[in-house]
Amino acid sequence: MLTLVLLLAASTSAQTLSPSVLHAKRSHLPAGWSRVRRHAQDAVLPLRFGLTQSNVEMSTLERLLNDVSHPESVNYGKHWTPERVAEHFAPTEEAVHAVTSWIVGSGLPQERVRVSKTKGWVMVNASVAETEKLLNTQYHVYKHKSGKEHVACEAYHLPAHIVPHVALVTPSIDFNAMLAKRASDPTHKLGQPGAGVSLKVGSQISSTMNSDDLDNCDVTITPACVRALYDFRYSPVAAHKNSLGIAEYTPQAYRAADLDLFAKNFTSLGGESLVGARPVLQSIQGGVVQHINVSFEFNVESNFDLAYAMNLVTGKQHVTLYQVGDFEIGGSFNNFLDALDGSYCTFEGGDDPTTDSIYPDPLPGGYKAHDCGTVKPAYVISSSYADNEADLSPAYAIRQCAEYAKLGLMGVTVLYSSGDNGVAGNDALCLNPDGSQTEDGQRFNPLFPGTCAFVTGVGGTQINPGSKVTDPESAAELSSGGFSNYFPIPDYQKSAVAGYLKANPPPFPSAVYNATSRAFPDISSNAVNFTTTAEGIFFPVSGTSASSPVVAAMLSMINDARLAVGKGPIGFINPTIYSAAFKGAFNDITDGSNPGCGTPGFAAAKGYDPVTGLGTPNFPKLLKLWLALP
Ligand SMILES: *[C@@H]1O[C@H](CO)[C@@H](O)[C@H](O)[C@H]1NC(C)=O
Ligand SMILES: *[C@@H]1O[C@H](CO)[C@@H](O)[C@H](O)[C@H]1NC(C)=O
Ligand SMILES: *[C@@H]1O[C@H](CO)[C@@H](O)[C@H](O)[C@H]1NC(C)=O
Ligand SMILES: *[C@@H]1O[C@H](CO)[C@@H](O)[C@H](O)[C@H]1NC(C)=O
Ligand SMILES: *[C@@H]1O[C@H](CO)[C@@H](O)[C@H](O)[C@H]1NC(C)=O
Repeated sequence: MLTLVLLLAASTSAQTLSPSVLHAKRSHLPAGWSRVRRHAQDAVLPLRFGLTQSNVEMSTLERLLNDVSHPESVNYGKHWTPERVAEHFAPTEEAVHAVTSWIVGSGLPQERVRVSKTKGWVMVNASVAETEKLLNTQYHVYKHKSGKEHVACEAYHLPAHIVPHVALVTPSIDFNAMLAKRASDPTHKLGQPGAGVSLKVGSQISSTMNSDDLDNCDVTITPACVRALYDFRYSPVAAHKNSLGIAEYTPQAYRAADLDLFAKNFTSLGGESLVGARPVLQSIQGGVVQHINVSFEFNVESNFDLAYAMNLVTGKQHVTLYQVGDFEIGGSFNNFLDALDGSYCTFEGGDDPTTDSIYPDPLPGGYKAHDCGTVKPAYVISSSYADNEADLSPAYAIRQCAEYAKLGLMGVTVLYSSGDNGVAGNDALCLNPDGSQTEDGQRFNPLFPGTCAFVTGVGGTQINPGSKVTDPESAAELSSGGFSNYFPIPDYQKSAVAGYLKANPPPFPSAVYNATSRAFPDISSNAVNFTTTAEGIFFPVSGTSASSPVVAAMLSMINDARLAVGKGPIGFINPTIYSAAFKGAFNDITDGSNPGCGTPGFAAAKGYDPVTGLGTPNFPKLLKLWLALP
């Protein structure tokens, strides 16, 4: 008893001595929003403090990942169990104690303060008046031109002794409010990645085409063209041990008739028919293959990702479809990650209500549960969706990036399309010095999660018009690439990036990109004029959406070969692909660039470049090298 009193007294005095320091500040108001009034002092805020996990500093994560992912490490391939991951990164008791005693010491009753089961969050319902005092801030109501209102502050403060324990506070500065129910708008939306990368669509393909014809690959890409480009002909032998997952976000959904139409014209290896083949549905947060909205824009992304992945891994290997989000509110990357890692999720939800969908969904017809740690992640996971990094707060992006590192520790390869607007962001927006985004902005606008150092970002290439499938490809102009503004450069790419910048000084001011940061993409594959189906007809589509599932299929077949000889999956590949041993295992792309923001963008060049990364995969070489690793 006595000790307890003394402890409380000590922490109270520490707190009064502890100066209040700025923890987060928003630089600008997102487009379409204006500040309308102070929030009512007696309104109640569901205040949540996301505690800093242990050992999640970027440099620590990089060291841990290198230990199991660097080909020269003695622990290469010795991936962690989910239990070890959860334990290693849990917030400390000290953090829980410091934050709760600070809140109670500030006058809020102990009974109102709750700690989540996983110790990741401290939560308290507090009035605006109480919150403003606690965080030394002011809350306002903001209004969007659509009429939607949102409560936020411009900046907030924490006592210095609390700062090391808190990663983020919600609601606070984040503004990625969901403007409307996702189901009513299939276009790209923050946190709820809509039509993912903005596929560029050509006109209907009607010409008769032999599914194995390689003479027209410069006009339209087919699975046969992809196999020829990367010398990728592999029939799985260990499918029962292997897994490949493709993530899609409701209401995007594949249409069975479109998959069959594709399968009818394009057989798999050796003429195998995939007519009638379907992905294995793994529903996450109420994810459904919805048949309510059927149109090109609702189906093309899923049709396309699945048709190619399924064709390339053949009918022997199941492709798992991670369908994320119910039909009412949809889902975000975090809503997906919750299902893969129960420690990321919490019983109250670890998501940011301003960016992620909150499950259980109270709307009529909404999903009435929250899937936390319910899904065993596939060995390779591909997502053809991306957000402008600048649309997310650094804290939000960093927390999610750490989660990808954990998947890497567990032996999962996470691939994201790099994006489709060259050095500009989604919707061709570029950054202004104050952080806002406009089409005439001057600074490059990188895309997340490709900018996370623990994800493999996949850029795009093309066969030049008139060229053969055996000729070298060029960079696709749409291929997003450049440098993060949030993440420092990881060791694995330091010398590759330094070599690029030295040999190819960009012809624009260094102020428009962040040369000391994480560069992306890491690798690339064809992204232009892919034959796909929607609404019962064939179309060519272009975008790095094409590249990620194709690379995923190749890496998955490398896993197959390793599993067949009793080895483990390749896991996080970046330290390996940049290593000296893998030099020459990619088709280096040295032509083309990724223009945007009023510049020619970065030029593709010998070795690494922030347009096509290390190049496109040479499947036989990669297979041989990975089979040689333990
Ligand atoms: C805050 O209030 C809501 C609504 O009454 C309740 O569901 C929630 O459990 C409360 N949270 C805490 C931390 O007490
Ligand atoms: C999707 O379908 C629902 C139900 O029929 C409808 O209310 C909604 O307007 C549709 N959305 C679009 C964008 O077509
Ligand atoms: C698909 O196959 C049909 C029948 O062989 C053919 O008429 C059509 O041109 C083909 N379409 C494409 C896009 O290859
Ligand atoms: C893609 O298709 C368009 C339209 O048919 C064509 O003009 C263009 O040359 C093609 N691009 C490449 C790189 O194949
Ligand atoms: C550049 O990137 C670093 C992280 O590598 C970041 O700390 C810094 O704020 C960025 N600069 C700008 C202007 O965004």
